[in-house]
Amino acid sequence: MSAKDKMIFLLILCLTVHQSPSDFLTKPGEEVQIFCSHNKTDYFQMLWYQRSPGETAMKLIGYLYVSDPTVEEQHKDNFNIIGDLSGSSKKNGSLKIQVVGPEQGAVYYCAASKAQEFREAEISKEITSDLL
Ligand SMILES: *[C@@H]1O[C@H](CO)[C@@H](O)[C@H](O)[C@H]1NC(C)=O
Ligand SMILES: *[C@@H]1O[C@H](CO)[C@@H](O)[C@H](O)[C@H]1NC(C)=O
Repeated sequence: MSAKDKMIFLLILCLTVHQSPSDFLTKPGEEVQIFCSHNKTDYFQMLWYQRSPGETAMKLIGYLYVSDPTVEEQHKDNFNIIGDLSGSSKKNGSLKIQVVGPEQGAVYYCAASKAQEFREAEISKEITSDLL
């Protein structure tokens, strides 16, 4: 999928995905939990991406498939993916971020997917880490 396609999806899912809370000012040592919810009841995968300041690419942190989380090896120490997307009710998952330093200051994106593929993404919330 090209970057252009991704941009289109970003715009589309703005209407249907809700993420909260909106932004954070954190300090190293803090833990932040972001929720992502949507009403696409047949979408059983939720993916989480990180876009660091000054970068255009979104990096995959990991994803939840039904209730089974997979976190990329390099992110295992700082991120947890939690949720249960089973059943036919609305979906609600979350990303827990252990803030250890400025490298967690980024924009986080949540994406919903029907199956094991990238489908849609929506801009999440900006996390600014407070440098000590
Ligand atoms: C999901 O549906 C409920 C009511 O049916 C609505 O209140 C809520 O805003 C919807 N959520 C999203 C993310 O569209
Ligand atoms: C998602 O779940 C959390 C707790 O697990 C809850 O606080 C939050 O309100 C839920 N969000 C929605 C939109 O249902």
